[in-house]
Amino acid sequence: MDSIVVKGGTPLKGKIQIAGAKNAALALMPATLLSEEPLTLTNAPRLSDIKTMTELLRSLGVEVTALQDGKVQVLSSHAMTSTTADYDIVRKMRASNLVLGPLLARHHQAVVSLPGGCAIGARPMDIHVTALEAMGAEIELKDGYLHATAKGGLKGAKVPLRFASVGATENVLMAATLAKGTTVIENAAREPEIVDLAECLRRMGAQIDGEGTSTITIQGVDRLGAATHPVVTDRIELGTYMLAPVFAGGEVECVGGRLDLVGSFVEKLHAAGVEVTETADGLKVSRSNGRARAVDVTTEVFPGFPTDLQAQMMAMLCTAEGTSVLEEKIFENRFMHAPELVRMGADIEVHGGTATVHGVDRLKGAPVMATDLRASVSLILAGLAAEGETVVSRVYHLDRGYEHVEEKLGAVGAQIERIAGS
Ligand code: UD1
Repeated sequence: MDSIVVKGGTPLKGKIQIAGAKNAALALMPATLLSEEPLTLTNAPRLSDIKTMTELLRSLGVEVTALQDGKVQVLSSHAMTSTTADYDIVRKMRASNLVLGPLLARHHQAVVSLPGGCAIGARPMDIHVTALEAMGAEIELKDGYLHATAKGGLKGAKVPLRFASVGATENVLMAATLAKGTTVIENAAREPEIVDLAECLRRMGAQIDGEGTSTITIQGVDRLGAATHPVVTDRIELGTYMLAPVFAGGEVECVGGRLDLVGSFVEKLHAAGVEVTETADGLKVSRSNGRARAVDVTTEVFPGFPTDLQAQMMAMLCTAEGTSVLEEKIFENRFMHAPELVRMGADIEVHGGTATVHGVDRLKGAPVMATDLRASVSLILAGLAAEGETVVSRVYHLDRGYEHVEEKLGAVGAQIERIAGS
């Protein structure tokens, strides 16, 4: 397994191009299942999660062609061979469940494995299942698989979500495009990736109103056609690289960055004393003087502070002046990076969903282990600020969500290299 070695203390200078959003692409790719005609995605990110989604779609008979080194993905579902999403692929990535809605909508049936260790009725698929049942689907759990059918097709319905789940909103949005009649999703997620999906579906011929608000209305149509759609900027990659100069010092311009994608995050950066400016090409962040200030952060659904930037923010607050309190409200057990940061000299106490970070003067390099995608990048960022060498092992998590991290950070002056493992 590869590891990444970071030597701290070098200020950064330059531009980083932000890629298309992983989480948008993972919802846009299954949208191809709704149409016989091709869907072309431009500005696609080059990540192992995209390869996993490609593998899943190919297993259903979808043709997936990667052009321009993977930046363009052409998908065609004209000759599908299966409506079963196998455990061997689904267990690798939770977003595999996004084939459920489109398969039900166009093929009136789907068999989708639950990710390991999950039970229907409880987390993590109950919101998807209840919503699709409201649209007339019959769904049963057998041998770890959801067996879903919609005889005669899905029907438009009022679909209130008990929680504004991103994945459930995406599944219902896709399913409703081909349902008979009108679907109204209440308490819908408002994330930019939902807006991006709605824009793509509209390009394919869907009739959708209200994306980006809590109520989305979809008027079902008979069929969807071909479309070309550019994947929205990855706001999590953006936020991550915006933090890099706060750790290392210097100045970085994130090309493609947009304030509307990271509003609540930028508010916290300002409160911490970090300067963010809009440029013609994106967002620029600089830190020339002293330590950042402590700030309290609570993760929330969009437009609140994103859970996917919590680990990176915690790493930054480890050396801020004062005490910060971080509350994780979206996922349980999402502080696995805390003990690794403590190995680097941080002072963090975790009680349930609350972490209290007492700022220390500096972190020290150490061997640490990546436990999940965002945790792994938070350790790399911490390494940029730490004295000496930090070796982050198990970086396969990182490759799920960040393309060429060592090249992007290396190009702005970071001392970082990947060591190939066995
Ligand atoms: C998406 C993102 C992920 C991000 C998350 C929250 C993708 C591919 N992934 O994940 O990076 O961290 O949004 O912003 O877009 N839940 C249930 N029952 C359900 C569905 C969800 O209890 O049926 C719970 C989950 O366990 C979790 C919370 O709701 O605690 C949020 O989940 P959800 O919004 O669905 O996140 P994902 O779509 O899985």
